[in-house]
Amino acid sequence: MSADAASAPGCPGEGFLAAREDFLRRYPEYCATGPLDELRARDYARLDALGDVYLDYTGAALYGSSQVRRHLALLESRVFGNPHSRNPASAQMSEWVERGRRGVLEYFRASPEEYTVIFTSNATGALKLVGESYPFSPGSVYLLTFDNHNSVNGIREFARARGARIRYVPLSIPGLLIDAPALEAALAEKPEGKDCLFAYPAQSNFSGAQHDLAWVERAQAAGWDVLLDAAAFVPTNRLDLSAVRPEFVALSFYKMFGYPTGIGCLIAKRSVLGRLHRPWFAGGTITVASVQGDTYFLADGPEAFEDGTVDFLNIPGVEIGLDHLRQAGLDRIHVRVGCLARWLIGGLEALHHANGAPLVRIYGPGAGGPRGGTVTMNFYDARGRVIDHRLIEDLAARRRISLRTGCFCNPGGGEAALGLRAEQLRSCFSRPEVRAASRFTLDDLRLCIDAQSTGAVRVSFGIASNFEDAWRFLEFARSLLE
Ligand SMILES: Cc1ncc(COP(=O)(O)O)c(C=O)c1O
Repeated sequence: MSADAASAPGCPGEGFLAAREDFLRRYPEYCATGPLDELRARDYARLDALGDVYLDYTGAALYGSSQVRRHLALLESRVFGNPHSRNPASAQMSEWVERGRRGVLEYFRASPEEYTVIFTSNATGALKLVGESYPFSPGSVYLLTFDNHNSVNGIREFARARGARIRYVPLSIPGLLIDAPALEAALAEKPEGKDCLFAYPAQSNFSGAQHDLAWVERAQAAGWDVLLDAAAFVPTNRLDLSAVRPEFVALSFYKMFGYPTGIGCLIAKRSVLGRLHRPWFAGGTITVASVQGDTYFLADGPEAFEDGTVDFLNIPGVEIGLDHLRQAGLDRIHVRVGCLARWLIGGLEALHHANGAPLVRIYGPGAGGPRGGTVTMNFYDARGRVIDHRLIEDLAARRRISLRTGCFCNPGGGEAALGLRAEQLRSCFSRPEVRAASRFTLDDLRLCIDAQSTGAVRVSFGIASNFEDAWRFLEFARSLLE
């Protein structure tokens, strides 16, 4: 326990110690994750020094101080220039960029013969690359699950513009996992001879549900290309691309190790790159372009997809971040966040108002289901009325608890969890005043659907989380009982 836990108001040391003892009895595997406490003391000391409870790892991981120091030392010791030239400052930077690609492939156990790494500014940039260049055409299908980040949903606009059909697969209720029979049926209906893309997240950024990676191979066997959104999965789970081989994987590095921001990647199968058609060319993506000859030749491989200058000074930070995760031990992080999430779910589910009404409703798979370290919920008063998630966020902030509220850019996950129906949403969006509105917010949507909740509260664990973080959140929740 940090000194802070013992002295914080409303935070009796004895209650904490008893809770911790009980936790360790129920989750003995947590003990083996002890080196992460040492890492926290060394590299994330600012958390306890400031008394912060950081519970938004699905938003962004926290960086370790040693990552920043190592990166700074590298920058201070080299002369790095814009890559892709032959001068010494450029050549050594180019080598670091290529080293970065190799490091990412190695980390995910992807064969360099089979896969390549395209650096982007984030997962969204990677997803957009697929959307804008995938050969959608009339008769082809873009198939995706309800549970998706908006950056995956948004690909439907590229598909629609090129005449493809868009098809959504629903989620099972209440577990919020993919409705397996519906997906099987959709996969079986792939149009013959057409390029069709199936996109889904390995882990939901809404509910923390982990969708079965076996869908990758099943979809491929039915003739689909697969886009796996791994952004919320890879910070605390191992993705082994020698075992699971989607055509495309999208991710953001700051979600894995906090620093640097501004870099993500698309890991793409080399065999599909030839089928992608960039809608334009840019500096860096061509070998030759001519003004008078009105011609251009795209570069081979990943460069053809990297518009302009990559974020070259930050790319070495990716290798440093991957080393940091390796040293921390991804499997250890995985075990730790799993224990914390399951304990927290149990604790929250046990909270009831004096009249017996539950305080919290948790969305997605229960403590024993396929889930990661993200727990999403709403709070209710004793009369069963939902407590506005924005109020929860404000109250949590007073205890220096950082959590996330809203729909987390995952409207389909939210609609399924909150029981919003298609007719209800269609009727709202077809109202003349809504159609004419130049601006429309989540609040407007809430009013439009009879003041039903349109959001939730999300807490998520990661590399520097400890039991005290989970306990403090549970104590905060307890304080909401009437
Ligand atoms: C599952 C998932 N996909 C995609 C994204 C988009 O990531 P970025 O904003 O870094 O592009 C996020 C971000 O929260 C996410 O959680």
